[in-house]
Amino acid sequence: MLLNTRKPVMDPVTHMKHEVAKAAASRVQSGMVVGLGSGSTAALMIQYLGDRVRNGELTNIQAVPTSFQSSVLANEYGIPLTTLNEVDRIDIAIDGADEVDPQRNLIKGGGACHTREKLVDARAEQFIVVVDSSKLVEALGTTFLLPVEVLPEAYIQVGKALEKLGGKPELRMAVKKAGPVVTDQGNLVLDVKFDRIDQPAELEKAINNIPGVLENGLFVGLTDLVLVGEVDGDRVSV
Ligand code: 5RP
Repeated sequence: MLLNTRKPVMDPVTHMKHEVAKAAASRVQSGMVVGLGSGSTAALMIQYLGDRVRNGELTNIQAVPTSFQSSVLANEYGIPLTTLNEVDRIDIAIDGADEVDPQRNLIKGGGACHTREKLVDARAEQFIVVVDSSKLVEALGTTFLLPVEVLPEAYIQVGKALEKLGGKPELRMAVKKAGPVVTDQGNLVLDVKFDRIDQPAELEKAINNIPGVLENGLFVGLTDLVLVGEVDGDRVSV
């Protein structure tokens, strides 16, 4: 069964996402091990990759998903899946982001998938980020809260430790506040407000050093290429 995620009429942001997703998918070559990112832009990339597999243009690829969501999509689109433990390399990883700074450092984790995303994206020979132009920021933390995955038993004490680092944490709740968001690993997410993150490498390490933290959404020094969709009037360029 194929999922129908293509909309006949597209707003400019969706149009940008399609363009960069298609451009990124076209960089994958036969025989590659591919890291599949998570989120709406990565989902489109998976769809375009699936098109290339289905029409026979791409053969013998294997994909490592970064979330349950991306593994379901890969299955739907006929992309063969493998796991981190089974591969000896990842040739290319393609993923979205919530913020991108001028040094190509990122905030990720808007979909609560950043722990597995970092494992896959950091291991890739080439890590490509696909975003629409609204994600470009002058400094990280200025438009998006920083996601931190925490063990459920420790979220209060981790929250206090994050406050000592200057952050204002809030527990991520599911839609309609029915309960907390639970990650694929069974953990919780604290979204932390830092007004502006000027030293992302230091903050990334400091947060990951708090007992009870699995991973935070700062991706520093990992990105090789950012594909940005830009709207100039009706024009979209990649
Ligand atoms: C999920 C992520 C996503 O890549 C990020 O949230 C961007 O998503 P989208 O392409 O839907 O804007 O980090 O954890």
